[in-house]
Amino acid sequence: MAYYVTTAISYVNSVPHLGHAYEAIMADVLARNQRARGADVFFLTGTDEHGEPVADAALAAGVTPKELADANAARFIALGEPLELSNDFFVRTTDEGHSVRVKEILQRVYDAGHVYLGTYEGWFCPRCADFKTEAETGPGNTCLIHGIDLSRESEQNYFFRLSAFQGRLEALFEERPDFVLPRHAYNEAASFLAGGLTDVSLTRKTLTWGVGVPWDEGHVFYVWFDALLNYVTALGYAREGEDLTDRYWPADFHVIGKDILKFHAIYWPALLMAAELEVPRHILVHGFLLGPDGEKMSKSLGNVLDPFAVIEEFGADVLRHYLFREVTAGQDGPVSLAGVRTRFETELANEYGNLAGRTLNMLTRYSEGSVPAVPLDPELRAALTGLAARVDELLDRAELSTALDEIWQQVRRLNRYVEEHAPWRLARDETRSPELAQVLASLAEGLRVVTVALHPYMPVKTALLLDALGRPDLGDREFAAEGWGGPVGELAPLFPK
Ligand code: MSP
Repeated sequence: MAYYVTTAISYVNSVPHLGHAYEAIMADVLARNQRARGADVFFLTGTDEHGEPVADAALAAGVTPKELADANAARFIALGEPLELSNDFFVRTTDEGHSVRVKEILQRVYDAGHVYLGTYEGWFCPRCADFKTEAETGPGNTCLIHGIDLSRESEQNYFFRLSAFQGRLEALFEERPDFVLPRHAYNEAASFLAGGLTDVSLTRKTLTWGVGVPWDEGHVFYVWFDALLNYVTALGYAREGEDLTDRYWPADFHVIGKDILKFHAIYWPALLMAAELEVPRHILVHGFLLGPDGEKMSKSLGNVLDPFAVIEEFGADVLRHYLFREVTAGQDGPVSLAGVRTRFETELANEYGNLAGRTLNMLTRYSEGSVPAVPLDPELRAALTGLAARVDELLDRAELSTALDEIWQQVRRLNRYVEEHAPWRLARDETRSPELAQVLASLAEGLRVVTVALHPYMPVKTALLLDALGRPDLGDREFAAEGWGGPVGELAPLFPK
């Protein structure tokens, strides 16, 4: 089964911050979970390189837009390795393969009569690259997101007949209550739709940094349409000589932040309908990671937390685990270095790391370094059976924090199991060696099962542990009836304090 997941593509007017990392990790967890389930996965991320914000930033830095884009795209690409992202391609909207396809698709939309020439006048935010509706305009014509003055702009543009898709979008929202997840984001999009759609600019004349409009050379496409199309265009050229569109489209999940909901939940499906392409299955909306002061973390507000620094101190797994434990996926929440440190110690070192360390240790000491091939404890088996299925079901609804919590409850149960059965006491009494063998084999299998389930969240340490257990297969996800009867290796502490 094919599975296609994407992130929003980041503006290259600045450099990556934790918010970008968060979104990419979210998509990565979904991708890795699907791969473990045997799906044919394509995971896409990339950069959004055209438009006014980038052109303005380049001007301010005294370089060309392309030079700025190249330099900053490189930094977004470089985020992949330290974050352990398993993306299958990195799209850049300045790629030739992207722009030829943007032109092709939008020409088709034009030819089908969904585009007309008109004059636009309105309040424009250069940072959002968006004309604002009345509801989106703050006191004194300011941007509600950036707090800056909006500029009054008027220009002759080609318009996309968004309003003509009102009915079809209403039907989409009615038929597919999980089109936008979570629910509060669906409600927000549905109420925007209920407010009535007006046509939107498809092109800009005053800007040159963009994909040229094929039917009128003086225009470039409005950056949002250029950008949204990346989700489709990338499939056309990600693999040389191969078109992956039929294999992966429609996307299963577009993972995005709440600030760009309107573009993804309204404009995007309408554009796809106009281009006679299928709409995606789900738009997954996450909240914002907030600074310590509870304010939005964003390039323009200047309160960003550098993901590279966090990774350098703690490693990718610690960051990945922290983000979904600390902030409930879908909601906003503050993050801090102090918070990372606390969770590292309490949950990773003391709970999971300790469970792994003591299990391997006891197998070495009391079972000659091998997992006994004996029937496993039915009670533990009852608790752990179906864990993979429960996690899958939650991740299919993109409930990343709930799924992680489900796994974490089992990590805690296994630690309790150790305390309750105290293998060190059993080891002192030879008559109890069958019981000891069962406890150790059950513990080993339990540790293996939670570790396989944790792998999408913490790919590095879990792989080390599975190797030490001699059971690296990520597809083997269910609790067995019997201990696997093989040797275990040594492992340095997973999360040394
Ligand atoms: N270029 C557009 C997206 C085009 S998608 C066709 C854009 N870029 S962005 O760089 O500003 O944001 C990229 C993603 O990061 C967005 O989904 C945005 O919501 C997310 N985040 C930006 N700051 C964030 C936080 N502080 N916290 C969580 N996510 C945040 O929008």
